[in-house]
Amino acid sequence: MKIVHISAECYPMAKVGGLADVVGALPKYQKNAGNEVRVVVPCYDTKFKAENVFETVYAGNVVLGNFEFPFNVLKEATDKLGYELYLIEIKQLFDRPNVYGYEDDIERFLSFQIATLDWILAENTIPDVINCHDHHAGLIPFMLQFCYKYEALSGIRTVITIHNGLYQGWFSHDKMHYIPEFDVRHAGFLEWDNALNSLAVGIKCADAVTTVSPSYLDEINVSANGLESLFNKVRSKSKGILNGIDIELWNPSTDKMLEEHYDIDNFDFGKQKNKEKLCERFDLDPAKPLFSFIGRLFDEKGGDLLPQASVLSLSENFENINILILGSGNPDIEEQLLQLRDDYKGNYNVFIGYNEELAHLIYAGSDFILMPSRVEPCGLNQMYALRYGTVPIVRRTGGLRDTVIDFGDNGNGICHDQSSVGDVCYSINRAVKLYDEKDHFKEIIKRGMATDHSWESVCQEYIEIYNQN
Ligand code: GLC
Repeated sequence: MKIVHISAECYPMAKVGGLADVVGALPKYQKNAGNEVRVVVPCYDTKFKAENVFETVYAGNVVLGNFEFPFNVLKEATDKLGYELYLIEIKQLFDRPNVYGYEDDIERFLSFQIATLDWILAENTIPDVINCHDHHAGLIPFMLQFCYKYEALSGIRTVITIHNGLYQGWFSHDKMHYIPEFDVRHAGFLEWDNALNSLAVGIKCADAVTTVSPSYLDEINVSANGLESLFNKVRSKSKGILNGIDIELWNPSTDKMLEEHYDIDNFDFGKQKNKEKLCERFDLDPAKPLFSFIGRLFDEKGGDLLPQASVLSLSENFENINILILGSGNPDIEEQLLQLRDDYKGNYNVFIGYNEELAHLIYAGSDFILMPSRVEPCGLNQMYALRYGTVPIVRRTGGLRDTVIDFGDNGNGICHDQSSVGDVCYSINRAVKLYDEKDHFKEIIKRGMATDHSWESVCQEYIEIYNQN
C-alpha cells in the first residue's frame, strides 16, 4: 500500500511535541510491514535540515489567492530514517527557525498543503491513502474532493489523525479565496461557528478520523473546544488508536544519550548511575527520590500546578526529595519555577528550554515522572518513562488513563483524578512512601518495563483503517 503522511512536525527534522515523535516513528513501522511510505513536512530552517543532504525532486509555484511563491520538493537523500522524508521548501514562508507562532501561519500551512497536492498531482504516482495530522493538514481531504484541479486525486482515501483538538487552525472568510477553485456548493464544509476551521474541515471531509487514544475519543465527544457536536456526528467513522513509541530510539540498553545502559534485569545499578550523573549536573542529591517533569509549561499540561506543588512537596517532605523540571512555555510559569531555585538549592532545579539528550537522561535517571495534564490526547512521556523504569504519576485523562494504572490496583504507576495542587502533592507523598518500600517499588518498576508499547503492535490498526471502505 502507498501511504503519505502530511504533518507540520516530524522527528528528527522538526519537533515541538509528541506529534513529531509519532510522525517520525509510525511510518518506519508501516514501511517495515511492507508498505511504501512517505512523510511530507515543511522545510524549516532546522539543525537537521542544515546537517543532512537533500536532493530536489520537484520545483513549482504555489498560488495562494493573489500571491505566488516558488517552491521545491526536497527528498532526504539517504533514506536513513526508515521511510522517505520530503520537505516542501517555500523559502519566503518556512525558512525560519520555528515551526509555529508566526502571524502568517495560515498562509504558511495553506501554501504547504496546496504545494504538497500540486506536487502529488504533477508526479502522477497516486498514493492509496493520505494520513493528515492535526489541523495543519486539515484542508487536504476537502481539496482532494472539491477543488477542480485535484480531480485526478479524488479517489485517494483520506484519514485525519487528531493529536490535539484544542488547536483548530481558524481563519476568516476573507481568506477563503486562498483555497484553489472549488465547487461553491460545498463551501459549507469549510465553516464552523462563523469561521473557517481547518480541523473541522478535515473531520467533516476525511474518510476516517482517528484520535491518538481511545479515552481521548470519548472525551472529545464531551469537551473539544467547540467541536463536540461534530465529533458526535462523525463517531461512526472515528476510532481511537493508542500511540506507540519507537522502541529502537527509546531503549535503555542501547540509548547513546545515557550514562549507563541497563535493562529489566539490572535496572537498579544502571538507573542509579544515570541518576548520579543527572544529580551532579543539576546539583541534586542522588540519595533522595527524584521527581521530574518534561514538557511544555502550559495549563493544558498542568504546568501551572508545578510551582506550588513543588513548594508544598519540598517543604512537607522536609526537603527529602528532589524535583527537576525541563520545559518551556508560559513565561509566568517559567519565572515562578526559576525563582524557586534559590529557596530549594540542592533539592530542586529547572532547565528552561528543550533538549532531547537531556530528556533521555532524565527518563533514565529519575524515579518518578510527573504528568499532571488537564488534557492529554495520548502522552508519550509516560510510555518512555515506563520503558526506562521510571514510575509515572499522572492525572487520569486521555491516553494517560489508557496506559497508567495505579499501583493500588496492581498497576504500573500512581494516578489521581483532579487537576489540583492538592492531588499532585498527595500523589508525591504516596510516591515517597513507595520509594522506601524497596521491594514493592522494584516490582512496580519491573511491571512498567515489561509493558509493550511498540508501534509494531499498533501499526496494523492504522492499516485496517486505511483499508476500510
Ligand atoms: C500531542 C498531544 C499528546 C500526544 C501527541 C502525539 O502533542 O498533546 O498527548 O501524545 O500529540 O500524538
